[in-house]
Amino acid sequence: MASPSVLLIGASGWLGVHVSNEFLHNRSSFTRLAILTTESKRHKFTDMETKGFELIIGSYTDASSFKGFDTVISLLGNHVMAAQPAIIDAAIAAGVTEFYPSEYGGDCHQGAYLTNPYFREKQRTVAHLRAAVQKTPGFNYTLVITGAFVEFALMPLFGVDTEKHTFVLYGSSEKRAEWVAAADAARYILQSTLLPKAAGRERVFRVPEGVYAWKEVVATLEKVQGVKYACTYYSQQDAVERAEACRERGDVDGELAFLLKKSLGEPGTVGVPKPWDNGVFNFEPERFEDSVRRILAERGDVEWTGIQGIQGL
Ligand SMILES: NC(=O)c1ccc[n+]([C@@H]2O[C@H](COP(=O)([O-])OP(=O)(O)OC[C@H]3O[C@@H](n4cnc5c(N)ncnc54)[C@H](OP(=O)(O)O)[C@@H]3O)[C@@H](O)[C@H]2O)c1
Repeated sequence: MASPSVLLIGASGWLGVHVSNEFLHNRSSFTRLAILTTESKRHKFTDMETKGFELIIGSYTDASSFKGFDTVISLLGNHVMAAQPAIIDAAIAAGVTEFYPSEYGGDCHQGAYLTNPYFREKQRTVAHLRAAVQKTPGFNYTLVITGAFVEFALMPLFGVDTEKHTFVLYGSSEKRAEWVAAADAARYILQSTLLPKAAGRERVFRVPEGVYAWKEVVATLEKVQGVKYACTYYSQQDAVERAEACRERGDVDGELAFLLKKSLGEPGTVGVPKPWDNGVFNFEPERFEDSVRRILAERGDVEWTGIQGIQGL
C-alpha cells in the first residue's frame, strides 16, 4: 500500500495536539503530513511546522485546500462540528478517498445516544458520509470509537475534582463506561491509517482499553491519591432540567455540558458495544489505573512509580 498523504483539521485542539504529536513521531510513514488552517491561526502551528508538518492555508470548505491528500482526519470540537458535512463535500470534490469524522468517544450511533442532542452533529455527519459513499465511487470513511478519555475522568466536566476530592454524577455509580488514554487513542487513529483497506466502505474501529463503572473510577482515584472522595448523585432528570435552563438563557456550552453529564450517568446504556478491535493494532493500551497515576503525576499530584518514571530507562 502506498504511504498515505494525511491532512489534519482541528490540530491545535485538546485531542488534536495528541494526534499531531503521534503523527510527528511517525513522520516517515507518510508521503505528506499537513495541517489545514487559516492565515489568522497560522501562528498556533509554527512549532508543528518546524517539526515536520506542512501547513495548508485555506478554507475548510474549499476543495483546493484538500488537493493532493488522500486521507483527511477531522479533530474538530463541538463549536464547529456542524461544518463537517460541507468539509466532507469539499474533500470529496478534491479527490480525498478516506475521511475520519470527529468521533473519538462512545458509539453515538446506537442506543440512548440516538436521542441525546449532544451527539446530533456527529450523527448528522455520519449520515452525510453514509450517503456520500453511495454516490462517490472510491470514497470511504473511518470511525474511531474510543470510549471516554481517562484524562477526562480527572476533570470537573466529567464530575471529578481531584483537588477537592469530590465527585458529582447525574445517574448511578453502577453505570459502566469505556475508557482509553488520549495518547493511545491517537495511536489507534494513526495506525488505522496504515492498515490495508477492507472491502467495506465504512470502517469502524472500536478501541477502548477497558470498561469501568463510576464506582471503580472513584475507587481508583481514592487508591492512587490516598484520600476519600465525597460523592454526590443527582437524578438524570436534574441534568435534563439544567441543560434546558442553560438553553433558555442561550448558554450553548452549559447546555452541551449537562447533556453530556446526562449521558455519562445514563443507566443501562453501553457506550462501545463489543466486539472491540484492539487486536488489530500492534500495541497494548495503558491500563486505566496506570493512566490515572501517570496523568496525576504529570500534574504533580502524586509520585510517579511507573517504569517510565525510573531514571535512566
Ligand atoms: N472521549 C472523550 O472523552 C473526549 C474528550 C474530548 C474530546 N473528545 C472528542 O474529540 C474531538 C475533538 O474534541 P476537542 O475537545 O479536542 O475539540 P476542541 O479542542 O474544542 O476543538 C478542536 C479544534 O476545533 C476547531 N474549532 C473549535 N471551535 C472552533 C470554532 N468556533 N471555529 C473554528 N474552528 C473551531 C479548532 O481548530 P484549529 O486547531 O484549527 O484552530 C480547535 O483546535 C471531538 O469529537 C470530541 O467529541 C472526546
